[in-house]
Amino acid sequence: MDELQYTLFDEVMLEHSFKWVNDPEIQSLIQGVPVTRQEQREWFEKLPTRNNFIIWGIRCKEIPVGAFGIKNISGDVGEYWGYIGDKAYWGMGIGSWMMKTVIMLAREKKLKKLYLKVLRNNHRAVNLYLKWGFDIKKNEFNDELIIMEKKIQ
Ligand SMILES: CC(C)(COP(=O)(O)OP(=O)(O)OC[C@H]1O[C@@H](n2cnc3c(N)ncnc32)[C@H](O)[C@@H]1OP(=O)(O)O)[C@@H](O)C(=O)NCCC(=O)NCCS
Repeated sequence: MDELQYTLFDEVMLEHSFKWVNDPEIQSLIQGVPVTRQEQREWFEKLPTRNNFIIWGIRCKEIPVGAFGIKNISGDVGEYWGYIGDKAYWGMGIGSWMMKTVIMLAREKKLKKLYLKVLRNNHRAVNLYLKWGFDIKKNEFNDELIIMEKKIQ
C-alpha cells in the first residue's frame, strides 16, 4: 500500500493518540489505561531518552491513523505493540502492512526475535499475527492473554 507511511511520532500524532488511547474500545483491546493530557505530555517528552522503546506514527495518505513500535528491547529481543486508532481504517489491510513493516524494522535493528501480548478474544489481531508467522507460546497472568513470538531472520 503506497499510501501508507511510518513516520516520526510528532505533536500531531500525540494529539490524535490522546483520543485513540482514551477510546474505551481501543483501550480494552490494547489493555491500556486512561491517560490525562499531562501524563501523556510527560511520556512524550521522555521519548528521546528511552533506548529500549521505539514508536512510529502511521499515516495513510498523510492522515494519522495509528501507531506502532517495539518496546522492552533487551539484547536482540523486543516486544511488538501497535494499533490502528482510527476505526474507519480497520479491516483494510493496514494490519498486514504494520506486520511487514515492523519485521523489516526489527531486522534493520538486528533483533532476532519479536514477541507480543494479545487478548485471546481479539480474533482480528490474533489471526493477523498467526498469518505473519507469530506462534502462540504460553499463557501469562490469566487465560485471557496470550503471548506470541516470531524469529526474525
Ligand atoms: C488488530 C489490527 C492491527 C488489525 O489490522 P487491520 O488492518 O484491521 O487488519 P487487516 O485488514 O490487515 O487484516 C489482517 C488479517 O486479520 C484477520 N481479520 C481481519 N478482520 C477480521 C475480523 N473481523 N475477524 C477476524 N479476523 C479478521 C484476517 O486474517 C486478515 O487477513 P486477510 O488478509 O486474510 O483477510 C487493527 O484492527 C487494530 O489496530 N485494532 C484495534 C487495536 C488492536 O486490537 N490492536 C492489537 C492489540 S494486540
